[in-house]
Amino acid sequence: MLNEEIYRFLIKKANDGIAIVQEGRFQYANPRLQEIVGYSMEELSCLPFNAVVATADLNSMAEMQNRRIWGEDIPLVVESSLKNKKGRVVFVELTAGLISHEGKPADLVIIHDITPRKQAEEVLSQTLEKLRKAMGATIQAITLTVEMRDPYTAGHQRRVSDLARAIADRLDFSTEKIDAIRMAASIHDLGKISIPSEILSKPGKLNETEYTLVKTHPQVGYNILKQIEFPWPIAQIILQHHERINGSGYPQKLKGRQIMIEARILGVADVVEAMVSHRPYRTAIGLDKALEEIQRNRGSLYDPEIVDISLSLLYHRGYEFK
Ligand SMILES: [Fe+2]
Repeated sequence: MLNEEIYRFLIKKANDGIAIVQEGRFQYANPRLQEIVGYSMEELSCLPFNAVVATADLNSMAEMQNRRIWGEDIPLVVESSLKNKKGRVVFVELTAGLISHEGKPADLVIIHDITPRKQAEEVLSQTLEKLRKAMGATIQAITLTVEMRDPYTAGHQRRVSDLARAIADRLDFSTEKIDAIRMAASIHDLGKISIPSEILSKPGKLNETEYTLVKTHPQVGYNILKQIEFPWPIAQIILQHHERINGSGYPQKLKGRQIMIEARILGVADVVEAMVSHRPYRTAIGLDKALEEIQRNRGSLYDPEIVDISLSLLYHRGYEFK
């Protein structure tokens, strides 16, 4: 058994604050707690416990007390905040238990200072937010670059991005995944900047050499983006956006589930938008023909589930291209 001397030593040297609170007042505070709140034991003995609770947490602390009085279960450890003598907020984890002190019920409270951890978390979340913004701005810069050279591709990318997002919304995807699809779609034809504009805007059929050149654009886009460490697999999605379920696509001739779901969605949205829109070298083919195309090739070129979602969106749900 541990004797009283050992208990005294432990409480005195503990790295956590320890207090005995009776009828809302401090009866005892160990040296570490005095250090955390900046008050001496003499000062604390004249203070109610609430005097060191940060204003923002006064209500939740009172609610917690009431719940305990009514016999409800409260969590063993609660996060809260105190204010020290200088008025600074100290983030803490509180663990409390009922004890008997000098013949009357009292709370034994253990107070663990988590301010450094909270501050580190705050810095990390700010850094992540900044990083996300910088990545978003990078995508925006690429979009503008494409737009300056080829406004048609830019408009196409924007509408494909919108449709791809609407399709992704119907699947049970995380916000992360939907963001990835939306952003990849908004710059998916970036690789076309390496193709002469006469070829891109050529009316009529492309000859074999021209078509071979056009088909390099997913790889070119991938090569441009692969060095950027986006938090989303943007370069990969772009690389795969012309792959088709039966392996007839390019550049890697991937099949079925070898193609990322994001790229399968982008592939369908791309085809539909391209057929619905006017181009400088041809008029729009139209929505009916576009839907006929994806329905006819449902399961051979295009992912059946994505075709079904697209059909229901465009036929029945009144989705409109902006
Ligand atoms: Fe493309």
